[in-house]
Parts: sequence; C-alpha cells; structure tokens
Amino acid sequence: MKKWYAVLGDPIAQSMSPAMHEAWFSENNIDASYIPIHVPAQGLGEAVTGLKRLGCSGWNVTVPHKSAIIPFLDHLEPSARQMNAVNTVHVLQDGSLVGSNTDGLGFVRSLEEAHGALYKGGDVLIIGAGGAARGIAYALHSSGYGPITFTNRTMDKAEELAQGLSGTSVLSVSVAEASLEKFSLIVQTTSVGMNFAQQGMPLAISNVAEGAVLADIIYNPLETEFLKEARNRGAKTMNGVGMFVHQGALSFETWTVKRPATKEMIGKITTTLGGISC
Ligand code: ATR
Repeated sequence: MKKWYAVLGDPIAQSMSPAMHEAWFSENNIDASYIPIHVPAQGLGEAVTGLKRLGCSGWNVTVPHKSAIIPFLDHLEPSARQMNAVNTVHVLQDGSLVGSNTDGLGFVRSLEEAHGALYKGGDVLIIGAGGAARGIAYALHSSGYGPITFTNRTMDKAEELAQGLSGTSVLSVSVAEASLEKFSLIVQTTSVGMNFAQQGMPLAISNVAEGAVLADIIYNPLETEFLKEARNRGAKTMNGVGMFVHQGALSFETWTVKRPATKEMIGKITTTLGGISC
C-alpha cells in the first residue's frame, strides 16, 4: 500500500518540506506522498491520534510543536532527549512512535558537505542560546568539534546551556566581539535577520579571522546582514539552506533507509528562494 508522511506546524503553508520529500520519493522510486497539515497548538493530541488511525508512516514536526509533541510519543532517541525537542517521528511496525531530532546533525552534515572536516579541532562560537543553538552545539560536540563557546544577549541563558553540555563555555557579546579572531567557525542561531522588521547584527564581526567560516541558520532571506557583512570582509559564508535540506534528508533516511541527493536539492531551493525572498 502507498505510504504517506506529513509535516505538522502552525503556520505550515510556507513549508518547503512537502516539495522536497515528494521530489526525493520520486527520485528514489518510492511510492509515497508527503503532505503539510496545519495543526494549532491545542489540536496536537487529536492530530497525533488521527495520524496513527489513518496509517501515517512518519511525520516532521515544526514550530510550535517540537517540544509539545514529546508526551504523545513512546520512545525518544538520544538526540531528541538531549534537545528536549523532536522534529522527526517514525511510526514503527507495531504502531509505536519514535521521536528524534535531526536539526543539529543536519547542520553538521551541511557544514561537512561544504567544507569537509576542515573546521574540526578549531574554536567554535555559537551566537544564541535557544533551541537551535542547543541542537547545533550538541551535534557539533558529538561529532568531535570544539571547544565550543556560547554568546548570547541574555547571559543567564547561555550559562544554563553551557552547564548542560560538557566542554562548553560562555562569553559576553562584547568579549566575544573583542576575541573573535580565535574562532574558525561562527554559527549565528538567533532570529536576527529573519525578516525586514528584525534587521541588524547580533554581534559585530570586525575582528573575524581570515579563513573563518560564518554560518547563519536562516535561509530566507538567503543572505542575512550578518552573512553579507561576513562576505564583504572576505570570510567564508554558509546560509541555512544546507541545514534545512540535511535535516530533511536525515528524516528521509530514518523512514526509508535511503540517502537522498542533497546537493541538487540545495541548488533547487536556493533558486526558488532567490526568486521569492523578501
Ligand atoms: P530557537 O528555538 O529558534 O533557537 P529561541 O529558543 O526562541 O528560538 O531562541 C532565540 C534566540 O535568539 C535566543 O538566543 C535569543 O536571545 P535571548 O536569549 O537574549 O532572548 C536570540 N534573539 C532573538 N532576538 C534577538 C535580538 N533582537 N538580538 C539578539 N538576540 C536575539
């Protein structure tokens, strides 16, 4: 029987996951489809019951459900437990629901697709201390990157994050700015730059080292002010399209045990966003 998958979120109309997964199913000759489902916060439990009854084989979870979905699942992979957030649900043969989180590893895979293991062993600075920062730090740390330092507008949050992840430390934004040249990998995880209403720089980058890579997890716009300034200073830059594609590829692998083509997908999505970005 044809399998089907979904993505749950609110809002969801803008999601590029359906087109991405449908293309991968087709390229891999898998008879399956993938649909977006608009699920408001109060409707999550009912949605999960419905998906199980209707034979859904797995789904992605996006804002605002990544943590709220946890009580409805039967097992959590370590990635989801560590991040206290789930972006992938796999329905096993016996009907049990397994939650995992591919966001952080998606970032690491996109970094390595672009640069190999060049930045392993170098100092990493993560700007931000929310869910995205936590997921990326955990995945970088588990993949052998670091030492990792967090910097954040609200220091308390960065300190709390560092306490939960061994081998990480914290710097204030001003001290991080002054010592920026020691970092070879700088990852911008805040929402600054996501839209015109929130322009600006989360951190001044005048002291960035030559050869450093600056990554922003935002992919719309394709080039935030942070990345534009980094590029103008001669640094290497990486936007969030790669992370988005690789987190999806890891979900796809979880469900189908097949590794989809990511480079081509990054190209397609970049072209699409280049035409519609704000
Ligand atoms: P996510 O799950 O996407 O990481 P989040 O948990 O809400 O989202 O975290 C948002 C991050 O963006 C936080 O680090 C936040 O900083 P604070 O902890 O100080 O709130 C950061 N952020 C959001 N808006 C910001 C702004 N205008 N300037 C600097 N940092 C900002």
